[in-house]
Amino acid sequence: MKKLVILTGAGISAESGISTFRDAGGLWEKYPVQQVASHDGWLADPELVNRFYNERRRQLFDVKPNRAHELVARLERHFDVAVVTQNVDNLHERAGSTRVVHLHGELMKVTSSRNPDDPDCIETLTRDNFEVQPGQRAKDGSLLRPYIVFFQEAVPMIETAAMLASQADIFVIIGTSLNVYPAAGLVHYVRPGTPIYLIDPNEVDAHMPGVNYIRKKASDGMEELTRLLLGKPEDNE
Ligand code: APR
Repeated sequence: MKKLVILTGAGISAESGISTFRDAGGLWEKYPVQQVASHDGWLADPELVNRFYNERRRQLFDVKPNRAHELVARLERHFDVAVVTQNVDNLHERAGSTRVVHLHGELMKVTSSRNPDDPDCIETLTRDNFEVQPGQRAKDGSLLRPYIVFFQEAVPMIETAAMLASQADIFVIIGTSLNVYPAAGLVHYVRPGTPIYLIDPNEVDAHMPGVNYIRKKASDGMEELTRLLLGKPEDNE
């Protein structure tokens, strides 16, 4: 099977009702990103940061995967698919995707603030227990924090993602402004001559020539891409 790598961003979850970051009315217009999503912000006010992510987790229970997530999952019937997402929601998994690399962490997980990547300290929250309380501790006694890669922090999964991009036979980009590195740089690991598709209703600079733009929102764009890749509209069963 051909290897299909799909890089996704907030735009693929927009039609599920989760706001993007940099569109009009986006998250970073409402919250000061330095305060709620950076390492310095965590050090300055961990309770504010945990409250912000408690609220984002709460929203997750009111939304569900949209048609774009479903069509991405269905491509696993025809391709060896790896999803590399910048999103911290779990909508790809809930739509049925079985191989999802989260570059920026996962909203439903929390961890140690001393060693965030210590597997013994990573805990998965549930619908019945999704809020971190002020002063709550991780297993190593440090303050419990979101399992999220804050700005200023390393992106542990970037090597895995770069390896996947370098092996892709087809590379697809959906719903990301490609503003944030190192994620935005993944397109440069794609072998020359590999077809690249970019689905976004707005203009995006893919930082490289020869990209096949599908100027549509994610669900319509995935319908079109499915037709292009399979030569037929995805059956609606
Ligand atoms: N369908 C597809 N794309 C859409 C839709 C839609 N319905 N609506 C908006 N978009 C596009 C926008 O045009 C934009 O290109 O989604 C993109 C969203 O870009 P951003 O808001 O910058 O989100 P993203 O690229 O995922 O941000 C990257 O920045 O703040 C950090 O860690 C955070 O993972 C995030 C990273």
